[in-house]
This record gives sequence, structure tokens and C-alpha cells, in this order.
Amino acid sequence: MKRLALLGAVREPVEMGIHRCSHLLSQSPQTAARKLEVLEREGYIERWKARGKSWLIITDKGKETLFKEYMDYKTIFSDKHKKKIVLSGRVVSGLGEGQYYTSLEGYRTQFKEKLGINPYPGTLNIKLDEKSLPLRSMFELGGIHIEGFKTEDRTFGEARCYPATIGGLRCGLVLPQRSHHGDDIIEVISPYYLREKLGLKDGSEVKVEVQLV
Ligand code: CDP
Repeated sequence: MKRLALLGAVREPVEMGIHRCSHLLSQSPQTAARKLEVLEREGYIERWKARGKSWLIITDKGKETLFKEYMDYKTIFSDKHKKKIVLSGRVVSGLGEGQYYTSLEGYRTQFKEKLGINPYPGTLNIKLDEKSLPLRSMFELGGIHIEGFKTEDRTFGEARCYPATIGGLRCGLVLPQRSHHGDDIIEVISPYYLREKLGLKDGSEVKVEVQLV
């Protein structure tokens, strides 16, 4: 149907016999004939004969189907998928728990596979500034899912994460399902020891560019 539409068949009748169609699709005349039959039977095209030639036009149903396809591709290639949100805040220290969690094989493997990050042990904690606080809601749904898991003596919860960068360095925003932090603190993992790479101390201002996924 796309090939027919490219010849203008959404707007006006096009001449389309079996042989032309076979040529158009680079397929046998039998295959071409069958495809046209199916399109007609399903109501995507109308066909008739006039002046000794075969004609067809794409119906409203056909147009709608193509349009839906078009919208899907628009979504696939649109900038929405490249949308970045910048969160700013200051580096703070936590309780040293990040080191423990990111070292667990159950999480580490998933960070590697799903985010492409083999995390430096720990999470960089950032206290969001006032302006960035409302942006947190952008991350309430979606993201890359990190599954929870069980060991012999305890269970570890799920999380979601987003690809991000800090100072141009690759990292990931990690949102545990049950966080032990307040809503104003975010946690970031990275293959790099960010404090050293970026010369950060507690109180340093940072911007995290988060990619919506
Ligand atoms: O809980 P706390 O932030 O104190 O410690 P952690 O999560 O165990 O991380 C250990 C230290 O490494 C902290 O000072 C983090 O801020 C830092 N870190 C970093 O600079 N870059 C990372 N990619 C991960 C952690």
C-alpha cells in the first residue's frame, strides 16, 4: 500500500495492472495479483477497469491505516525521544549504602546490560535545588526497569533508571522503588568516580542531564 501511495494513489486513481504491480514490488505476477486481491478484499483499495486498463485508488480505510503508520514513525523518530531534562543541585554525602547496593551482582549485571554502565561502587547523592524539585515528577513513570531479586537472607527491591550525563560523563539516574532518601535527593551511578573526575566535594553544584526514556 505504501508503494501505491507513493505513486499518488491516496489522492487519485493510478493505473495498476498485475504486470505493473509485479514490477513495482519486484515480485512474481502471481504474488502481485494476490496482494492486490487481499488489499481489495480488506477494503484498503478499490479497483475497476476503464479504457481497457486496470485502475485503483486507496480508500479512506487505507488512508487511515497509512496515516497511523506515519504517526508511529513520527513518534519513533521525533525529538520527544531525545528530550533531556536538566536537574541541578548540590553534592551531598549519604550513609555509604550506595557502595553496598551497587556492588551486588544482582544489580550490577542489570546496570551493565540495561544501561551499559559498570558502576563505580557507590552512588553520587545530589540534593536538588528548589527549581529542579518539580521536575522530579517527570520521572515518576517510565525509565528502564531494574528488577528486584532475592538472596538467601533478604530481598532487594526494584528500581528504575534513566541514562544521564554529569559534566559530559556518562551516568545513570537511579530511582529505587523504596528510597531511604527524601524526595529532594537523587542518586546517580557512573562508571567513573565522579568526585575525583569532576573535582566534586559536598556542596559542589552539579547539573545532571537526564534522557527521558
Ligand atoms: O552514601 P554515600 O554517598 O556517602 O556513599 P556511597 O554511595 O557508598 O558512595 C561512595 C562515595 O563515592 C561517595 O562519596 C559518593 O559521593 C562517591 N561516588 C562518586 O563520586 N562517583 C560515583 N560514580 C559513585 C559514588
